[in-house]
Amino acid sequence: MSRSGVRLTAEEEGMLEGRAGHAAQKSMEILVALGEIYGAERMVRVTSVQVSGVSYKNLGDAGIEFLSELAKDGSARVKTTLNPAGMSLTGWRSQGIGGAFAARQLDVIEAYRRLGVEISCTCTPYLAGNEPGYGEHIAWGESSAVVYANSVLGARTNREGGPSALAASLTGRTPLYGYHLDRNRVPTARVDVEARLGSPEDFSAMGYFVGKLVKDGVPFFARSRPASLEQLKALSAALASSGGVAMFHMEGVTPEAKMGAGTAERVPFTAEDLRETKAKLDDLGSPDFISVGCPHCSLDEVRTLAGLLSGRRVTKEFWICCSGQVKRLSDEAGYTATIERSGAKFATDTCMVVAPIEELGYKVVATNSAKAVHYLRNAGMRVRFLTLEECARGATGRK
Ligand code: F3S
Repeated sequence: MSRSGVRLTAEEEGMLEGRAGHAAQKSMEILVALGEIYGAERMVRVTSVQVSGVSYKNLGDAGIEFLSELAKDGSARVKTTLNPAGMSLTGWRSQGIGGAFAARQLDVIEAYRRLGVEISCTCTPYLAGNEPGYGEHIAWGESSAVVYANSVLGARTNREGGPSALAASLTGRTPLYGYHLDRNRVPTARVDVEARLGSPEDFSAMGYFVGKLVKDGVPFFARSRPASLEQLKALSAALASSGGVAMFHMEGVTPEAKMGAGTAERVPFTAEDLRETKAKLDDLGSPDFISVGCPHCSLDEVRTLAGLLSGRRVTKEFWICCSGQVKRLSDEAGYTATIERSGAKFATDTCMVVAPIEELGYKVVATNSAKAVHYLRNAGMRVRFLTLEECARGATGRK
């Protein structure tokens, strides 16, 4: 059946006509409108959704109203997880968050809970039980996770906004266009990686440089060496922040890289580019707030931090952002006790960007993520770009 340019099945048409309730109808209207704009021929079923637009700082009261309306009869039809909120859901008082903000943030969370969304509050859903397989169609709304899912997992998603991801959850569908189609997953630029890369921060800087250059293209990194989860996570986030990248390939690493770069334009990434990008990301100055975990820390990163903080005391506010799931694994492994003895804080459910830290009076933030630098600068803050080790050392007053 087709009432628009987008072909719908009888079930989808029923949703559009309201036979599956108000929330499904509103959602299908959003998806059909999107499909028409992008020329989708039909809808495709999705197996997984990641919803962004969770922090009250970004949603405001209008967002709560929108969610509460949908929650009257809407329900997630597929596995649906949630991006970070504007505060730790249980530890917000120790983060200095005000009661009024906290109350509204908890209203947002409650609306998502009623919609059947898992209150995971992490931007690394793939580390917290939402890890789609190769070739699966999904609808994810966190740009760093979108890049990771398309590139590293080989799943297929566009860069969804909060409403379109939620609409996909409430219908189990998304319009078939963009990165769901083979033809849009082909490299548009070949990056000859000449710089010697080591830390995840090197990958973060490279992602920031390349994202700016290729904008919403698909870079192919010619570099036949293994890369760790942490390096790929950092690269994904940076590519999506300086540019509109939704997918990359890396020779010998990502599953679709075997297609090669074809005749894509060649771009070098040199040692000088790496050095210059890092320098440009660093505003210098003495930080009064230090935060790592953008995207949220893996257990390996938490283990490294426990080693660096063991037997030391932090002298500055130091947040370690990670999912509740990673935090639980850290508890079991004994890392949490070591870290908390140092005075550092776990910031589960949130991060330095979506929490209202500018209202907490901090002026200079240190972080190990180019993405965090990008957004914190946009919020008017001065930012240091350091490695994970430098952040931990700086927090404990060591060089
Ligand atoms: Fe995640 Fe916050 Fe960074 S949502 S990717 S830690 S800006």
